[in-house]
Amino acid sequence: MAKGSIKDRLIYAAMWLALAAPLPIVLVPALTAFNPIEYILRGLGLWGLRLLILGLVITPAARIFNLPVLIRYRRTVGLFAFTYIVLHLLSYVVLDQFFDWNRIFQDILKRPFITIGMGAFLALIPLAVTSTNGMLRRLGPVLWKRLHSLIYLIVPAGLVHYWLMVKADHDSQIVYGAIIAVLLAWRVWDRFQAAQRRKARAAAKAS
Ligand code: HEM
Repeated sequence: MAKGSIKDRLIYAAMWLALAAPLPIVLVPALTAFNPIEYILRGLGLWGLRLLILGLVITPAARIFNLPVLIRYRRTVGLFAFTYIVLHLLSYVVLDQFFDWNRIFQDILKRPFITIGMGAFLALIPLAVTSTNGMLRRLGPVLWKRLHSLIYLIVPAGLVHYWLMVKADHDSQIVYGAIIAVLLAWRVWDRFQAAQRRKARAAAKAS
């Protein structure tokens, strides 16, 4: 499919609508929630994590279903994930802590789940900043890919943040963790396969 074609634009429009939908899904019920601030804070964090995971689904899906075109839409998913996490952080700073910087810094230093969340957020910033084609050209594909491999630490860190937040009943964290484990394991397997293919080609050349 040609870039910029009507079909491509329609897909982007549908994607934007679908990726923006969690915002009203979180905000509208928050109006009548028992604790609206907690509802917004948690809802935005959860959608941030879900979209980070969706970003990890795209490469294996493109390869398994032979749909390389999917890779084109990965950046948009990643940028929406980043946006939800920025809004999650903002809802913590503004709604939950009322800009009490002293308490926020104490939280970051003393509550491990906040420390890890903050670490994951800071590591996401260089990925968002370098997500443009211009930055890809400037960094070169090798360095760019290496930098963006940070996502393989960020997503598990997001999960640990979620895990540590609750003391008991980790059922949903286990489900998210299993999905993340499968997606990361696929990458390890894929790299192993690629290395095997390279070895076989080198052996064939040498013989
Ligand atoms: C990659 C970064 C992050 C991800 C993926 C993430 C994800 C999440 C998730 C999934 C939840 C639980 C939602 C639920 O209960 O349904 C959550 C809760 C929370 N997160 Fe994050 N988060 C991130 C960064 C941060 C940062 C930077 C902060 C603040 C400095 C933060 C503060 C909180 C707080 C205060 C809660 C709610 C805790 C509570 O209600 O007891 N998060 N986050």
